[in-house]
Amino acid sequence: MISKKMVKALNKQLNFELYSAYVYLAMAANSNTMGLKGFSNWFHVQFQEELFHADRFYNYILDQDGEVELEQIEKPKKEYKDAYELFDETLTHEREVTKRIYELASLALEEKDHGTHSWLQWFITEQQEEEANVKDIKDKLKLAGSTGQGLFMINAELATRVYVQPTVPGSQA
Ligand code: FEO
Repeated sequence: MISKKMVKALNKQLNFELYSAYVYLAMAANSNTMGLKGFSNWFHVQFQEELFHADRFYNYILDQDGEVELEQIEKPKKEYKDAYELFDETLTHEREVTKRIYELASLALEEKDHGTHSWLQWFITEQQEEEANVKDIKDKLKLAGSTGQGLFMINAELATRVYVQPTVPGSQA
C-alpha cells in the first residue's frame, strides 16, 4: 500500500509521460511536413516509448491499489524552426523528465516507500540513456548543420530507428 501523496505524484508523472508522447507526436508531424522523413520516424518511435512509460505508471498505480486519475493533457508546440531546434528542445524536455523522476525517487525515500523507490530505478537508467542518445544526435546536428549533405545523412540514420518494447526485469508493469 502506498501513500496518497505518492499516488498523487505518480499520477502527475503519468500525465507528464502522456504529454511527452504528445510533444513527440507533434515533432514527428512537424518533421514530416519539413520533408524530414527520417526525423519523423525517430520522433514517432519516441512517441511510442513515451506511451509505454505512461502505461508503466498506469499499471503500477493500479497494482499498488492506488487510484488512477487522468487529467487534461497540455497542448504541445506545433512548429519548430529547423532540425536543430527539434533536438535542442528534445534534450531540454528529457532533462525536465529526469528532474521529475528524481523528485519522485526523493519523495519515495521521504515516504519510506522503498518499493516505489526501487521501481523507479528503471526510469532513472532509462533517462540517462535517453539524455545521452538525444545529446549525441544534437551534437551531430551542430557539427553537420541543419541543411545540406550533413542533414541528409542524419535524416537517413534516424530513419533506421525501430520501436522495440523495452524489457522490464522482474515486473509486469
Ligand atoms: Fe518518458 Fe522520455 O521520458
